[in-house]
Amino acid sequence: MKNFRLNTFFAAAIAVFCFSVNAEEIDVDSAKALAKQNNCFRCHGTDKDKDGPAWNKIAAKFKADSKGEEKLLHHLSSGEMAKFPDGHEEAHTILKSDDAKQTKNLVDWILSL
Ligand code: HEC
Repeated sequence: MKNFRLNTFFAAAIAVFCFSVNAEEIDVDSAKALAKQNNCFRCHGTDKDKDGPAWNKIAAKFKADSKGEEKLLHHLSSGEMAKFPDGHEEAHTILKSDDAKQTKNLVDWILSL
């Protein structure tokens, strides 16, 4: 019984912790650093189209979508096909990050643009 109560306490503590992480501010500097490391800016500007669409356009498209974050996380981990302005398609770059929190931070930053 004692253990059960302790577990309940930890479950509640973890829930509160996760919630506060969700509500945390976006760390813009580390989002940019991760994007730079991954050469994302070769094909994307924050507000300028390059080979890839400007990230503020992507934000406008996905912000209202309750699954927007999930879709972008999938996009950056799956290497799904990306359509280029000249019409050819190739697998999109997979984001390399050794920290899921950093990946999420980058996606949240893109969505905030
Ligand atoms: C070689 C060029 C290239 C690189 C490098 C690149 N992208 Fe893209 N990206 C594209 C193109 C082209 C599209 C448009 C895909 C489409 O509409 O089919 C795209 C689309 C996207 C989208 C929108 C996905 C969607 O479902 O609409 C996001 C978000 C994105 N890129 C993020 C990134 C991030 C983060 C990086 C760095 C890891 C990155 N891109 C690197 C070319 C690139």
